[in-house]
Amino acid sequence: MSPLRYSVPQRILHWGMALLIFFNLLFPGGMEHWNSLVRRGETVTPEDVASANIHAYVGIAILALAVVRIILRLVQGAPEPPVEEPAALRLLAKVTHGLLYVFLLAMPLGGIAAYYFGVEIAGELHGGVMKLVLWLLIVAHVAGALVHQFYWKTNVLARMTHGRVA
Ligand code: HEM
Ligand code: HEM
Repeated sequence: MSPLRYSVPQRILHWGMALLIFFNLLFPGGMEHWNSLVRRGETVTPEDVASANIHAYVGIAILALAVVRIILRLVQGAPEPPVEEPAALRLLAKVTHGLLYVFLLAMPLGGIAAYYFGVEIAGELHGGVMKLVLWLLIVAHVAGALVHQFYWKTNVLARMTHGRVA
């Protein structure tokens, strides 16, 4: 039997991690500055490293929380996609969720490879195509949630927020 709603820890992790991810997506300035100094072979001050570290530590927190979240998901499961939704879109939602999980691991791992181990290609992928695909997945994900709320009028938002579902 699958649950009717996400558990409280799953909900806290979902929204807390969304904040951290938006922070790193929207404010990577300190890390970008550090990266351009290193690439040009210029002097890096302790202040430059400190502001790059904010991005790195937030990203590492995302990686650690993603592991906890995936374990919880395997143990506690998740509500079934609503029956109102056409089968093809139910599959699309599953694929999008799966890819989001993959990116919650791959994005920080790529950053770590670039920042701590100097793997340039990892940095290029991390700040280039992976960033772009992650944005596209998030836009599709939010659009899906809004279509549920306002078109199908299902309870998917409720089961990821206050949890009061029939
Ligand atoms: C989910 C977590 C993360 C997200 C969403 C994220 C997002 C970003 C974004 C948006 C950029 C700027 C790319 C650009 O527009 O040029 C960037 C660059 C970078 N990030 Fe992250 N990041 C994450 C985790 C990490 C971690 C954990 C590290 C290292 C410990 C890291 C290291 C870097 C580095 C080195 C760059 C510069 C890459 C380059 O342009 O070559 N990131 N990241
Ligand atoms: C960085 C941002 C986000 C990420 C990485 C993310 C990731 C995820 C993932 C992986 C799931 C699937 C949970 C599972 O079944 O195990 C999920 C579910 C959900 N997300 Fe997000 N999410 C983000 C932002 C948002 C936002 C802004 C909204 C608001 C519109 C939202 C609304 C939902 C809802 C309603 C569900 C439950 C879907 C269902 O019950 O089938 N998410 N999210």
